[in-house]
Amino acid sequence: MGFTVSIDGPAAAGKGTISKAVALHFGFAHLDTGLLYRAVGAKVLEGAEPLAAALALMADDLDNDTLRRPEVAQAASKVAALPAVRAALVDFQRSFAARVGGAVLDGRDIGTVICPEADVKLFVTASAEVRARRRFAELSVKGLAQSFDEVLADVQDRDARDMGRADAPLKPAADAIEIDTSDMAIEDAVAAAVALVEAKGA
Ligand code: DC
Repeated sequence: MGFTVSIDGPAAAGKGTISKAVALHFGFAHLDTGLLYRAVGAKVLEGAEPLAAALALMADDLDNDTLRRPEVAQAASKVAALPAVRAALVDFQRSFAARVGGAVLDGRDIGTVICPEADVKLFVTASAEVRARRRFAELSVKGLAQSFDEVLADVQDRDARDMGRADAPLKPAADAIEIDTSDMAIEDAVAAAVALVEAKGA
């Protein structure tokens, strides 16, 4: 069995950066599970039926710049509330988690539902204002114009939907270690995560 790290948390808390850095540090494979839901959301925006889109998902569908767009994020959050869509994506995520060389999966329900036996569980969070500020800066660089208030409303909307859904809501696993990045430089958050994973025997 490989070593599995789960990293959950709300949008723009820093989990993507932390997950990539932890994977690189330990030589583990990394899966951004949000991309699965974004790819399904993108297909639904093009007119597909959510479950059919989830069942037909291919690796190539995950490699697409449009998946980062705000409207795709909202569509992802909506399809992610459908139990049939979530169920269709479980096996792929669990096989990935069981990779012999070790794996880091980031998302919303990795420590609670996908990998309840993960070797290390991190829950990366930050205040909604800080996360909106970070997302606003990222989107501005990419030229995707949204006002700060729109970005904050988007973040709060997704938080409410992701935490409030009945199936696999966003919440820390009972044995997750929380990293609040609100007042941390990203380098310090990465260092904290690496140290926690190391301490668990990676
Ligand atoms: O991590 P992200 O922002 O790319 O995720 C997009 C949406 O997908 C998020 O709002 C909720 C959903 N999601 C989920 O329900 N479960 C996951 N493991 C990952 C993402």
